[in-house]
Amino acid sequence: MITAIGVGTDPTITYFRDQAADRGVPIRFVDLFDVVDGDFELHVGHPGLSWVRDPRGAVTTLDPDGAFYCRLINLGDVIPAEFPEWSSTIFALTAWLELASGLVVNRPGHPCDNACKPLHETVLAQWGFHVPDSITSSDGQALAAFAAEAPCVAKALSGQRADCIRVDPPTFADFDPRRGPVHLQRHVDGDDVRAHVVGERVFAVEINANGDDYRLDHNACFTSINLGPATDTALIEATQAMGLSFAGWDLRVNGDELWVLEANPMPGYSYYDTNMGGRITAGLIEFLFERSPTPP
Ligand SMILES: Nc1ncnc2c1ncn2[C@@H]1O[C@H](COP(=O)(O)OP(=O)(O)OP(=O)(O)O)[C@@H](O)[C@H]1O
Ligand SMILES: [Mg+2]
Repeated sequence: MITAIGVGTDPTITYFRDQAADRGVPIRFVDLFDVVDGDFELHVGHPGLSWVRDPRGAVTTLDPDGAFYCRLINLGDVIPAEFPEWSSTIFALTAWLELASGLVVNRPGHPCDNACKPLHETVLAQWGFHVPDSITSSDGQALAAFAAEAPCVAKALSGQRADCIRVDPPTFADFDPRRGPVHLQRHVDGDDVRAHVVGERVFAVEINANGDDYRLDHNACFTSINLGPATDTALIEATQAMGLSFAGWDLRVNGDELWVLEANPMPGYSYYDTNMGGRITAGLIEFLFERSPTPP
């Protein structure tokens, strides 16, 4: 049996839950809202039985040898006064899922460099990927000078969702350093590609859209593509090196040139999957199912 753990209002994990139900695949969904309001006992190793109990008293046992898809979103970070128990619950489940002997496709102990884009880009480059040059600064003159050299974009510096926009030197004419730091990256030409690695498989889609950030174009067109064995292998190996079996890679492809923009360790994959006929979900379910122990 596959277990999915996440927030009942998160569109990605609820999409996974509903897709599994539509396909007749039994999964157990553990809603973090219930765990926070309920109770849990988590044992590291096998001697004890690990379980979570919802506020109505229903108990779900957690088998450390099981197959898990988790999205541990800490709502305590967003509204701490209302949810003081979130941090301790997330902390406990993170430790348990990190140490569980079974399969956790998004094992939470992966390196967290994605939350700091300059660090993340450095790591991606160290793995041998082509990553556009960048600058991170609060110095308006330095930012304007970088923008003057060649076209560039301003994009999120942290893991927070932000739109990506083209900027030029006048953007920084009256720049107040208190608005910084700003992360600029050299603009690279090419087609946007999103590639989801699931185990040893890659599900890639090319996105044709208007504007600088395809996520803002509601008429964007999605076409499934094959990136070729060399790129597939590089993405699979880098995903495994991050300690993950499931990751979403943002790429730009220009002929033979492949630029890596980002590797998402907890991809909001449903947006792409609905445009790919559910292939990512099918791959994810298959991968989890193959590794989930058969109930006695
Ligand atoms: N260096 C770049 N050159 C051209 N387009 C870019 C560049 N960086 C990002 N983009 C465009 O911006 C969009 C988002 O890119 P990317 O995923 O790198 O941004 P992000 O803000 O890090 O994303 P996320 O919200 O997933 O963390 C895509 O349309 C992408 O093509
Ligand atoms: Mg991205």
